[in-house]
Amino acid sequence: MSYQLLRMGMPISVDFPQCHQLAQKAIDGFRAFLREIPMEKRNIFTFLPGTTEEIPAVDHEDAELGYFLRNGRRHSDRKYDGVGGTYDRKDLWHYVPRIWDELGKRNVALSPETELWLRHCHELFEECQRCVYNFARQEHLRPTGLLEALHSAERGPLGHTHALRLINYHRQSADEPMGHGHTDRDTFTLHVAEKWPAMHCSKSHRLFKAQPDKALLFPGDKADRFLGIPAFDHYVHDTTGRSKEEERWVVVFFAHTNPSP
Ligand SMILES: [Fe+2]
Repeated sequence: MSYQLLRMGMPISVDFPQCHQLAQKAIDGFRAFLREIPMEKRNIFTFLPGTTEEIPAVDHEDAELGYFLRNGRRHSDRKYDGVGGTYDRKDLWHYVPRIWDELGKRNVALSPETELWLRHCHELFEECQRCVYNFARQEHLRPTGLLEALHSAERGPLGHTHALRLINYHRQSADEPMGHGHTDRDTFTLHVAEKWPAMHCSKSHRLFKAQPDKALLFPGDKADRFLGIPAFDHYVHDTTGRSKEEERWVVVFFAHTNPSP
């Protein structure tokens, strides 16, 4: 039944023991990073495709690896626009395992706290990968197209195949969607955990909420192209008003996915 939902381009619920606790640990580390490292010193944690230069961490179209701030400026790609036709305001952290190498190349001295946080990110990254691979194996998803995709430029200039994304949404001033309808560019997105639910289906406007020890898995653009599974079109809108009072966090994993590596 759940696989039927996936084939309709809808999220399904997958087992992921302790996903909320693991996500909370990663988010706590991210919050500490944001508290302790001032904005002007975060550039050493920001990596963009095609350059090894340190660049300002603010408002990039193609967030690739490490820390980014989206500061609410209007953006050319309206697909990802948030409140009032501008980007929503949020801190992003993209963890992929090779961030250790990239930080090493810049001779970044990690504090014990930052190193521990990155280890938590790594632990969560591996659990997410295991969860998606298990699902793909169970469903016998082994099309050669996915392998080709992994070895193409779509893999990303920094060579990663998957990415863990931590999102810290700032408080919202308007009662509008934080992110308008879009599909993700990966094969499967694992929606690991969030502070409170706000992800809706663009067609039905249904709010999706994960059960304890379960994550939501849904298809992205590559599932559409390589597996014939329509990508899930979704938007983020907190209809509770709680976002005006407090920051909201979300942890997702983008799998681009080769289930039999
Ligand atoms: Fe998305």
